[in-house]
Amino acid sequence: MHFSIFRYNPEHDDKPYMQDFRIDLESSDLMLLDVILRIKNVQDDSLTIRRSCREGICGSDAININGRNGLACVTNVRKLREPVELRPLPSFPVVRDLVVDMSRFWKQYHSIRPYLVNDEPPPEKERLQSPAERERLDGSYECIMCGCCTSQCPSSWWNPDTFVGPAGLLQAYRFISDSRDRATGERLQDLNRDPYRLFRCRTIMNCTEVCPMGLSPSRAIERIRLRMLDVEGHGGGLARHRVPTVR
Ligand code: SF4
Ligand code: SF4
Ligand code: FES
Repeated sequence: MHFSIFRYNPEHDDKPYMQDFRIDLESSDLMLLDVILRIKNVQDDSLTIRRSCREGICGSDAININGRNGLACVTNVRKLREPVELRPLPSFPVVRDLVVDMSRFWKQYHSIRPYLVNDEPPPEKERLQSPAERERLDGSYECIMCGCCTSQCPSSWWNPDTFVGPAGLLQAYRFISDSRDRATGERLQDLNRDPYRLFRCRTIMNCTEVCPMGLSPSRAIERIRLRMLDVEGHGGGLARHRVPTVR
């Protein structure tokens, strides 16, 4: 198979370039990460990619594959058009080759307080939820923080320091919808404290389109907006900014 891979080592290269690799595969039923590691082991050990679990759980090998973000370890090479073009996640600063700097991504994630806030004395055993309350977390707790969505979101490209981005907003919704959390009002207010944090989302839905876990950050964003309207209806007055039409 023919691969064209983005290369850039800031210690040696003036600028990035694409390098061609051709490799014979005894089976076309391999995952892309296996092939990249084979190229690294057999042809060029300087080729750099971040990875860990090799089974779609850690989120560390997210890259851009033929123009679309995804996880190399769960992408079957047989399905890819040649030459297979591999690039680092778009819009994230490149550390080297396919490895990106995710500091800004993590900063936005931490800004939504991704943990349970509840000052009530803890019960002896655990804070219980009904099955229905637990079910409300489905579709958000499964996020593996791979960054595929935020990297492919145009609103994040232009506002990386101000727009929380789809991954962070999905996690914001995860805690807003948690029956054990006591900071819902504060969380909604925080997301509404400037017009960019949440409302910069233009409902383009690239995030939902590329999520390798099949999650829908755009739906979570829509639900946060609806929660804001709900709070407003009960005297909270949180939705200061124009609410775009939800398609
Ligand atoms: S929502 Fe999906 S694409 Fe975005 S970080 Fe989570 S798992 Fe990755
Ligand atoms: S729906 Fe919103 S968060 Fe998702 S890609 Fe579009 S602008 Fe970004
Ligand atoms: S290596 Fe962990 S998700 Fe691919």
